Amino acid sequence: MFHQIWAAVLYLYGILFNSIYQCPEHSQLTTLRVDENKFQDPHLGQWYFIAGAAPTKEELSTFDSVDNIVFNMSASTVPMQLQLRAGIRTKNGHCVPRQWIYHLTERSTDLRTEGRPDMKTELFSSPCPGGIILKETDQGYQRFLLYNRLPHPPEKCVEEFQSLTSCLDFKTFLVTPRNQETCKLSSS
Ligand SMILES: *[C@@H]1O[C@H](CO)[C@@H](O)[C@H](O)[C@H]1NC(C)=O
Repeated sequence: MFHQIWAAVLYLYGILFNSIYQCPEHSQLTTLRVDENKFQDPHLGQWYFIAGAAPTKEELSTFDSVDNIVFNMSASTVPMQLQLRAGIRTKNGHCVPRQWIYHLTERSTDLRTEGRPDMKTELFSSPCPGGIILKETDQGYQRFLLYNRLPHPPEKCVEEFQSLTSCLDFKTFLVTPRNQETCKLSSS
């Protein structure tokens, strides 16, 4: 009898722990706004891609061959535009340079990617110092991506990102290996 009650208590405690402590009722994600009028936008400069989370495996498959990615965000000479450069180091050692143009929008905090009319990028603050969280939504996929100013942020940052995103039902998770040297970013 006592054993059964104890089992029931533990079971209830398990449910409460999972629903209350692991997944807060309101998402802890806070939207960030990129403000082009600020002289020194905190989003500019170098970032490292750390981890990704999505509802399904397919939505992260583009990163399967990635060892590490370094990004550099810079202000464009054109108003309301940002330029993002990336150096993708593949697992087999190649460097793949990529480049995107983001358009800031007056009315929303979303970024729009040039040439990708259905793609939307939202920025969120990360609970971890030096971190930022992006949510990319396009036709057929949505995913959260964790970036940090450091190539190897504390393990806790990755764990917090994982619990935050899994609470939103983005339960497939990927951490980049980051074993190899980062690629050089070419200017212009
Ligand atoms: C990286 O970003 C910084 C800040 O936006 C910029 O000053 C610098 O020119 C960029 N470097 C490259 C290689 O794009």
